[in-house]
Amino acid sequence: MKPVIYVTRKIPEELLQPYKEYAEFRMWESETEPVPRDVLLKEAKDVDGVLCLLTEQIDSDFFRAAGKLKVVANMAVGFDNIDVQAAKEHGVVVTNTPDVLTETTADLTFALLMATARRIVEAADYIRDGKWENWAPYLLAGADVYGKKIGIVGMGRIGEAVARRASGFNMPILYHNRSRKDTAEQELGAKYLEFNQLLKEADFVVSLVPLTNETKQLFNKEAFQQMKESAVFINASRGTTVDEGALYDALLNRQIRAAGLDVFEREPISPDHPLVQLDNTVCLPHIGSASEETRSRMINLCLDNLTAVLGGDAPITPVH
Ligand code: DGY
Repeated sequence: MKPVIYVTRKIPEELLQPYKEYAEFRMWESETEPVPRDVLLKEAKDVDGVLCLLTEQIDSDFFRAAGKLKVVANMAVGFDNIDVQAAKEHGVVVTNTPDVLTETTADLTFALLMATARRIVEAADYIRDGKWENWAPYLLAGADVYGKKIGIVGMGRIGEAVARRASGFNMPILYHNRSRKDTAEQELGAKYLEFNQLLKEADFVVSLVPLTNETKQLFNKEAFQQMKESAVFINASRGTTVDEGALYDALLNRQIRAAGLDVFEREPISPDHPLVQLDNTVCLPHIGSASEETRSRMINLCLDNLTAVLGGDAPITPVH
């Protein structure tokens, strides 16, 4: 009998087709709505593998409900939605999708940095709203990007890919990370700084840290107080790494210049949220890895991981 895999969101049939030789699939038939919790727990009961998204909380209750589960493949590189310790206790392998999304997420992070610095969204809305009447010396004038100092907090694969883009803009690269990154230092001239020193020196502070107990609310009131008045803050990691109230105050009081945010403490963020309403934020709906090619690569990697483990092989990209 083929193993059974539950997929928590509708994914394209053509991606699934080649894997049907190895497994039977059940799927939540909505592309946009997350599977309700009770349905997830019910479905988990008698399946061998689950392909899930970051919208699902894969916690100890889930693992208790999942009788014969062997593997959970998370369609994201971040896995803060999964209780990895509980998975281990239940003997379930967890996998994620590193590498395949690195360059796409770095593209978006850099695009967000540029959009925020040069007020791109506001400028496009300016025309749409019929406000453009004349050319004027400081009309929608933003901040330069070229040659400014970028401070990357979390120099993993995506951090390094952002640093490569920044070096094309002649930006001195500062970084803070749990450990020193020799390749970034040697190849890009990246300079390691303590967290507080980076905040003081960087023109662009870019958060790419994974969400852990250590990074929760890392960007708090004290952090924003240390940044330059001209600093632009970019978050493409997880919303909970930021104290959103403190960020709002810093932006409102022009303690920092602007923020570009792809992630929020609660997603989807409401259009009425104070951060969205500010004129010096650019807010995006968590689209870091959202190119058609990369999203398909992520799904394929999940399916490869699931069928590898269920076929008795080692997972390709396990979470440790
Ligand atoms: C991730 O992979 O962790 C992103 O946040 C979703 O692509």
